[in-house]
Amino acid sequence: MTDNIIIFDTTLRDGEQSPGCAMNLEEKLKMAVSLDELGVDVIEAGFPVASPGDFEAISEIAKNVKNATVCALARAIEADIESAGNAIKLAQNGRIHTFISTSPLHMKYKLQMSPDDVLDSITKSVVFARTFTDDVEWSAEDASRTEEDFLCRAVETAIKAGATTINIPDTVGYSVPEEYGAKIAMLFKNVPNIDKVIISTHCHNDLGLAVANSLAGIANGARQVECTINGIGERAGNAALEEIVMALRTRPDELPFNTNIDTTKITKTSRMLSTITGFNVQPNKAIVGANAFAHASGIHQDGVLKNVQTYEIMTPESIGLNDSKLVMAKHSGRHAFRKKLEELDFELDDDALQEVFARFKILADKKKEIFEEDLIALVEDEVIRENETIQFVSLQVRAGSTGPQTAEIVLNIEGKHHQIKVEGKGPVDAIFKAIREIYPHKDARLLLYQVNAVTGGTDAQAEVTVRLGENERTVIGQGADTDTLVASARAYVNALNKLIIKRDKLNPQRGDI
Ligand code: KIV
Ligand code: ZN
Repeated sequence: MTDNIIIFDTTLRDGEQSPGCAMNLEEKLKMAVSLDELGVDVIEAGFPVASPGDFEAISEIAKNVKNATVCALARAIEADIESAGNAIKLAQNGRIHTFISTSPLHMKYKLQMSPDDVLDSITKSVVFARTFTDDVEWSAEDASRTEEDFLCRAVETAIKAGATTINIPDTVGYSVPEEYGAKIAMLFKNVPNIDKVIISTHCHNDLGLAVANSLAGIANGARQVECTINGIGERAGNAALEEIVMALRTRPDELPFNTNIDTTKITKTSRMLSTITGFNVQPNKAIVGANAFAHASGIHQDGVLKNVQTYEIMTPESIGLNDSKLVMAKHSGRHAFRKKLEELDFELDDDALQEVFARFKILADKKKEIFEEDLIALVEDEVIRENETIQFVSLQVRAGSTGPQTAEIVLNIEGKHHQIKVEGKGPVDAIFKAIREIYPHKDARLLLYQVNAVTGGTDAQAEVTVRLGENERTVIGQGADTDTLVASARAYVNALNKLIIKRDKLNPQRGDI
């Protein structure tokens, strides 16, 4: 048995389907490219039958991803499988992942099917999936609460029908590590054709055991792990990719397994996901939390200064967490600026470069030191603003302990300036109210307003995230500026623009919101 572990990333499917983590096509594509660069082996790109948008996103990912296998999810239903087959058609390597529940509870109440009907459906779905690709994964949904004999029969049936990977999900996060590991060992012992396939883990985190269960699965013969960046996913999430990978890397004595992950890209990928979804990880989150490498107590700091290994089991560099680099100064020229952006992997056309350079000069006047993070925030702010219908122009705010707090905002809508001054219950309330008055959107609700500092210091740029919800749709907007209130206005306007795009796609006749 090989000691290589296949990393199957489901950030864009199980992760994306959790509340508040929805991404649009460009965001999914950006994440997929980043996951490919991180070195994941399989990208589960979505559930194509769920909506035309999901189908389109998976097809685009299939076309653009260079190395990873691109996978689409399908229930044991012909229409689902056909849609998955079509969505991955243009992938260099495409996989269909089909699943059906096998636990008594799910079969009786959810599927209302007998065990024999489920076995029959497994054969039909896997055989049909094989007509689209040779790479077919089959999952026993709620496997951890499935009776052992029936799980063995279901797995054997899927392998006979042509599945090449068999996934054993702990769908409801109910297992404990010894039990989950024993289940994988039991399958190896009792399923006669099991040597023909890769066994995979898929653990949810309802009891905080997803990573521990996945590692127990590996120790007992699983050679694929399904996981997500930052552990996002249904309810309490899925097993966190970064935790599994770093556990394997840090403890080869106990866990002698390799992955193809370039761990130095973990921080970048984790931050990208947080920026896109507005879901920040908790500060004490393992590996990628803001405090994961911070030593606060005097005793620890003293120890680390004498020898870092006293309190550090991994280096920050190993996950790509380097000290903020001072990169640019007020007098840096356009040429050096362009070069720096190229180093940071940004390709901008001349107009965009001109815009970002002008904003960099304004920022350099306000902020003593410009770090890489500042440039990234500036460029990302510029890129998300391209082609916006509503553009932020300027803002004046009156804030403070004695009211009234007011906001006077100017927005440009399709070439025409609109200006308004309103009072609010605080400056942010006044800003958002002013935007609503200029561009009414009464059905949209503010679901999240979040401020982060891009770097340290009181002159740091603020990065604001706004989530707006309207009916079933949610959108995330972002804005960055040294003035938190300007960043807030930019973020709200960005979210509003995305809401308009979504509406127009759904109902192209409608002119306004
Ligand atoms: O948790 C689960 O069971 C799933 C399946 C679709 C694999 O996500
Ligand atoms: Zn799941």
